[in-house]
This record gives sequence, C-alpha cells and structure tokens, in this order.
Amino acid sequence: MTVPDLSRRVKPAVQVASSTDEFARLASDVVTRQLGARPDSALAFPTGATPLPLYAELARRCAESALSFSQVHSFNLDEYVGLDPEHRASYHAYMLEHFFSKVDIDIARVQLPNGLASDLDGECARYERAIASVGGLDLAVVGLGVNGHLGFNEPGTAFDVRTHVTFLAPETIDHNVRYFGDRARVPRQAITMGIATIFDARRVLLLASGEAKAAAVRAALEGPVSIDVPASVLQAHPHVSAVLDRAASALLERLVR
Ligand code: F6R
Repeated sequence: MTVPDLSRRVKPAVQVASSTDEFARLASDVVTRQLGARPDSALAFPTGATPLPLYAELARRCAESALSFSQVHSFNLDEYVGLDPEHRASYHAYMLEHFFSKVDIDIARVQLPNGLASDLDGECARYERAIASVGGLDLAVVGLGVNGHLGFNEPGTAFDVRTHVTFLAPETIDHNVRYFGDRARVPRQAITMGIATIFDARRVLLLASGEAKAAAVRAALEGPVSIDVPASVLQAHPHVSAVLDRAASALLERLVR
C-alpha cells in the first residue's frame, strides 16, 4: 500500500488546448504514447462530459489502425451503487456507448466495479486484487469534480484509502442530475478507486474543461495539498500531466503563462 509522500512536489506538465479538437488530440497523444511503450498497459478511465472528445479521438485512431486496445486492461474509476449496468446513466452503459463499442478492446479485459454486488466491501477488495493481478495501473486518466474530487473521492477523503464505497457530495449529486432528470433519482453511493489506488498508477493524466472547473484546477494544481481538495494529491505524484482547455486553465498563475 502506498501512502502518498506529500513532502515531494513535482511540477505537473500542463498543456492548454485552444479547441476541443486540440484537447482531444493532446489527451489522446498521452494514451497513444503509453500504448506505444506498452501495448498491454493497464489503464484507468473516467466517465462524464470531459473525456468524451478523448474517447471519440481514440476511436478515430483505432478505426484508422493507428492504435490498438486489443491487449489493454481497462479499469473504470467508479460506478454507482444500486444502479443496473443496463441503466443508461450507469458507467457500464456510458463506457460501452462511448468507447468499448468503438474500439478493438477485448471485453474480457474490461473491468468496472459491480455496484450491484451483495457484498460491496468484498467487491472493493476484488477490484483491488484485479488491478494488482495485472501489475497495477500504468496510466490513470482522471477527470476533476467541481469540488476537486477524483473519481468519487469527495473532499475530506483520506489520501491512503483504496477502492471503497462512498457517499456522493451534494454538489456531485447536483452535477449529475442531468443524467437522471431528477435529483431524487441520482444514486447516493458509489464504488470508487481510492486516492491511493489512483496515486499508485505509474502515470496520471488529469483532464479538465470548461469555466466551471477553473477554480478546482487552480486548487488542485497550485493550491495547498489537502484532503479538502482530493486532486491536490497529484502535486506529489512523480508523473502527472494535465490537459486543459483555456477556460479550465484561466485561474492558473504559476503553471501556465
Ligand atoms: C467519473 C468520475 C468523476 C468525473 C468528474 C468530472 O467517472 O470519476 O470524477 O471525472 O466528476 O465529471 P465531468 O467530466 O462530467 O465534469
């Protein structure tokens, strides 16, 4: 188990895209380089609005045979508890629709947490074992919550926690209402890789786009490292890159400009 060494500070490599196409290209280049170095990499993937351009560009590269996911081990960061994988707002359904059905990935090598497991703690332990069994994550692609969350590690989550069951923060529930139509329908719990699981990845790619993320980007990359901003732990990770759009990078003072 890795407890992040917070005394270490590494300057993340930040790239700012001036268009959605460039955002997709820069993010896809990181994944493409990873698969060039190791075709059977273990990758962690997020869902949400931010990575959609990345998935579209990866699918395009795959269709042109410039890239293959056939040997990749894929692990999603999180999944809601109690939601049928066939529900259109589940992360199973999202990944199938936007990515897995569009690339040559071997579904036998795809894993998401099972939010319907009768023993949820057992499922979390199984998920950690599955990641360990392929040698750990080579690259974790992560999005950023408006409150600085990583996966569903909400503010206040300890940095040494691994895959676990968690409650969604009220602002996360609000952010995700758009997928459910009604606040009451948004699941209150999720299984998420823990901060330590993400931190153990050999590389991390942070993606953020849009004005609504600007404050969280600033807090995560330039603010104090604190459990109040879960993504700030990445400042202690040795191999982090960030791909942002202009709006999300607008409040950065030291890393950009
Ligand atoms: C989703 C996940 C979340 C999202 C974050 C940003 O699998 O892990 O941390 O990455 O909430 O979501 P969007 O991209 O919809 O703004």
